[in-house]
Amino acid sequence: MRVTGLRLVNFRNYPSLTLRPDGGLCVLTGENAAGKTNVLESLFLCSLGRSHRTVRDGEMVRAGELYSSVAVDVDTRGGPRRIECKLFPGERKKITIDGAPISRSGELLGCLNVVMFAPEDLELVKAGPGERRRFLDMAISQLRPSYYYTLQQYNNALKQRNALLKDPDGLDYDALESWDEQLAVLGASIILNRTELVDRLSVIAGEQHETLSDGAETLLVEYEPNVVPNSASDLAKTLRLALSDTAERDVYRGSTSVGPHRDDLALRVSGKDVRVYGSQGQQRTTVLSLKLAQLEILRAEKDDSPVLLLDDVFSELDRNRQRMLLIAAQDCQTFLTCTHLEEVAAAGVEQMQVYQVADRHVVEL
Ligand SMILES: Nc1ncnc2c1ncn2[C@@H]1O[C@H](COP(=O)(O)OP(=O)(O)OP(=O)(O)O)[C@@H](O)[C@H]1O
Ligand SMILES: [Mg+2]
Repeated sequence: MRVTGLRLVNFRNYPSLTLRPDGGLCVLTGENAAGKTNVLESLFLCSLGRSHRTVRDGEMVRAGELYSSVAVDVDTRGGPRRIECKLFPGERKKITIDGAPISRSGELLGCLNVVMFAPEDLELVKAGPGERRRFLDMAISQLRPSYYYTLQQYNNALKQRNALLKDPDGLDYDALESWDEQLAVLGASIILNRTELVDRLSVIAGEQHETLSDGAETLLVEYEPNVVPNSASDLAKTLRLALSDTAERDVYRGSTSVGPHRDDLALRVSGKDVRVYGSQGQQRTTVLSLKLAQLEILRAEKDDSPVLLLDDVFSELDRNRQRMLLIAAQDCQTFLTCTHLEEVAAAGVEQMQVYQVADRHVVEL
């Protein structure tokens, strides 16, 4: 798939901007704070219905303005599509696909698939398990939008169960049983989907990491579910039992201690936990391997290349890693931001469309 047009109105620092990108490599270059990442963020917004760097939609509305709008034209295997996202400070955003409003943000998933690689992604390795669960969940949601709804239902049931645990009038056992039943079924589906994705990720990311490190390192990606089933078929039963077993402790804690909301992803480089012992370079390579694996899986499953968004990452990679990234990006439309264009040119890129970003304007060079 490829983005053929982007129109921003009152988005971040842009009063108005129109781009008509080519299908290949599109480089956005300019000084710090010029507005390069803002362009990538607007594409991410139209792909996943949210920003990659804030949970507050209002921040994306240009200061002093009452609304913001992002419109993206996409060419997909299924034909052309127009996604439009309107943001209002303090109000819910409105999204339309080909002019028709969507009622749930999950409906957007799959219309424009993107894989983003940004400096913040190092958190995937360094931060707590929540970041790694988010990575898995967003990757699966792009592959299977129904997963997104399962996740929403699970989170809602979890919220209800936690509220019940804290009820000052005492525990309503009938209600608890009903929420446990739902959490067990939904949780089992989440664990199975994550298991399946991690099985695929581990193979591809392992290969990528070996190539990126010139065979010097191995990467092991392993799913660490909080509740380990004996077999896939009795997973819901195992989860249901674990919830009953911990109910008393959960009342004491005031929250649910078992289930996929406590899962993690183990990342080992040459046998060592890269989250704890990895060097900056090893951590960066691990993230890159995971992202390239995500790209590969999306491409294979959707039979259509996702759009690659590379924010400011080129300068932090050595030549071999830059080359690998460009090879992976070869048949994807890629948006790349950088402050020094020479670095991209030096990596041996022959064809690219270059935009100079400065003073709220983007000019094609
Ligand atoms: N809501 C907003 N209204 C107006 N301007 C905004 C808003 N949000 C961010 N900006 C401006 O956008 C600019 C930052 O844009 P962006 O993050 O895209 O920069 P960048 O080109 O990626 O810079 P760097 O190279 O440092 O990453 C800043 O000048 C900031 O003040
Ligand atoms: Mg930036």
